[in-house]
Amino acid sequence: MKPQNPFATSLRTHTLGSLTELDSGTMVEVCGWVHKRRDHGGLIFIDLRDKFGITQIVFDPGVDATSHTAAERLRSEYCVHVTGKVRPRGPGLENPKLKTGKIEIECHSLTLISASETPPFQIAEEETVGEDLALTYRYLDLRKPKLAQKIALRNALAWEVRSYFHARAFEEIETPILTKSTPEGSRDYIVPSRIYPGNFYALPQSPQLYKQLCMIAGFDRYFQIARCFRDEDLRADRQPEFTQIDVEMSFVDESDIEDVACGLMVHLCKRFLNYDMDLPARHMSYGTAMEKYGSDRPDLRFDLSFTRIDSLARRTEFAPFQKGVVKCFVVPAHVEFSRSEIDGCADFVRVFGLEGVAWTRVTTEGLTGGIAKFFPPEMHAELIETVNAKAGDVILYGAGKEQVVNQSLDHLRRHIGAAKKLYSENDLAFVWITGFPLLELDPETGGFASVHHPFTSPLYEDLELLEIDPLKVRARAYDLVLNGIELGGGSIRIHDNAMQQKIFNLLGLTPEIAARKFGFFLRALKYGTPIHGGFAFGLDRIAMLLTKSASIREVIPFPKTAKAADLMLDAPSHVDEKQLKELSLRLEKGLHNFGNVG
Ligand code: AMO
Repeated sequence: MKPQNPFATSLRTHTLGSLTELDSGTMVEVCGWVHKRRDHGGLIFIDLRDKFGITQIVFDPGVDATSHTAAERLRSEYCVHVTGKVRPRGPGLENPKLKTGKIEIECHSLTLISASETPPFQIAEEETVGEDLALTYRYLDLRKPKLAQKIALRNALAWEVRSYFHARAFEEIETPILTKSTPEGSRDYIVPSRIYPGNFYALPQSPQLYKQLCMIAGFDRYFQIARCFRDEDLRADRQPEFTQIDVEMSFVDESDIEDVACGLMVHLCKRFLNYDMDLPARHMSYGTAMEKYGSDRPDLRFDLSFTRIDSLARRTEFAPFQKGVVKCFVVPAHVEFSRSEIDGCADFVRVFGLEGVAWTRVTTEGLTGGIAKFFPPEMHAELIETVNAKAGDVILYGAGKEQVVNQSLDHLRRHIGAAKKLYSENDLAFVWITGFPLLELDPETGGFASVHHPFTSPLYEDLELLEIDPLKVRARAYDLVLNGIELGGGSIRIHDNAMQQKIFNLLGLTPEIAARKFGFFLRALKYGTPIHGGFAFGLDRIAMLLTKSASIREVIPFPKTAKAADLMLDAPSHVDEKQLKELSLRLEKGLHNFGNVG
């Protein structure tokens, strides 16, 4: 005998993915939505769908005339309750694509729970629906089994994350959502206070300071599946509100954090992809990543790495090579990079600020085509050797400001990698990046800004440089990158009040401003702070990876659009005059407090 369906309720005995030939002859009760309906003259068939699967229901006037007549009125997405008998399908009528494809339920009684208007798009069809329409009717889009499975995987992912950390004595600790703005490099979402007119809470960009305070509180090992909010420009892998797997540990150094962070990825890759991730993960310094791939999140599924050839380039007669940085990379002969594809590179990089991409082909005799004529003949062999090229290869060059060259060639490299299928979709190339600079120049203010965040510890060896050349100081920070995506990052933190003040000072915060913004934290640092560090992974990004989704919106149940709107709720929206008044807020002239943004 089969065990009873564990998801039986007072309205159903079985779910719609569970019945098999072994149930033939059993009377069952099921509930679900009409996925498809077919009227075959005498008989009506519906595919009835619930979260667990699809089962065919047959309405036979010979078995029950009332339900057969009622079934004539059923349409897509009607929600119904069916009582009937399981029977094997007739010979040749089995559907091998369905788990329940060998049986059907002969309907004895049909109850309509709810009718449905004609949906704005078909749930049962694979048609592509405009994203705005899909997001407006997200609850219907989520009925699609493919999307529902992604959300189910996200749930399983959160479960695995929790079990991984609980098994290692981490405690999940909730931190506030109404908090105070801390600088993490993005704009805050702020919430006006009614009780303190003119004052605002900020939604957390991450629980960074709370988790450090947890270490000061002696919790030793913190984790949280934490919601974060950042008002920043959105991309395919960014949402204004997103979820982090946030971690902090006491009495650790970089290697302890790496063990836990990479251990989590090993666990998730095995559980969800049956993939054995190698440990230790490949390491690369920030300097090498920038030099060879033009990016601190290199996609290492394929090579096409860069060689910097400034001094060699200066000896050519090619004008753009006479100043700035010159980098090149080799597209091997087997990639078959055509002339029109070479010409297309210039257009491709223009949006990233580079004026063009120079090229040469390599032959057994030397360089030919493109800018070959600007290279004195005696330099051909030297260049070919420097970049390790072979006959038939194409060399692509970018010249200009370092940042522009890096950014442009990085995009071009990844574009060629994807277009020419230089890797398989199943390849996973993890890399642990270290040695980030602590500070960078803020283009807006001209002052120093943190590369990671202001609570990151400088590398001990570089402490002296803090006084003389702060931009040269490296941070005790690390990122885990996979296939060109930053999965997560973190750092060993400053645990010393004086050092924290010094960094605030370098960042241009006067002691007064530091005290106003971070007084609570500087005070806490005076009470015996443990050495501590941590990291945060983007949970949504991991869910994207595990479900092979191109957009972060596919793995978030109720996402925002690329313009940060919730089309289903029509949010953000105006609020009543009364609410504004209570908050002591007045809208600028010209902004009317009616209607919604959508
Ligand atoms: P960071 O800002 O690098 O670090 O964020 C950590 C990870 O969070 C994910 N992420 C995002 N995912 C979706 N949408 C976004 N807008 C978004 N922004 C970030 C990325 C990223 O790698 N407090 C530090 C961590 C620490 O130092 O421990 C922090 O938040 O996957």
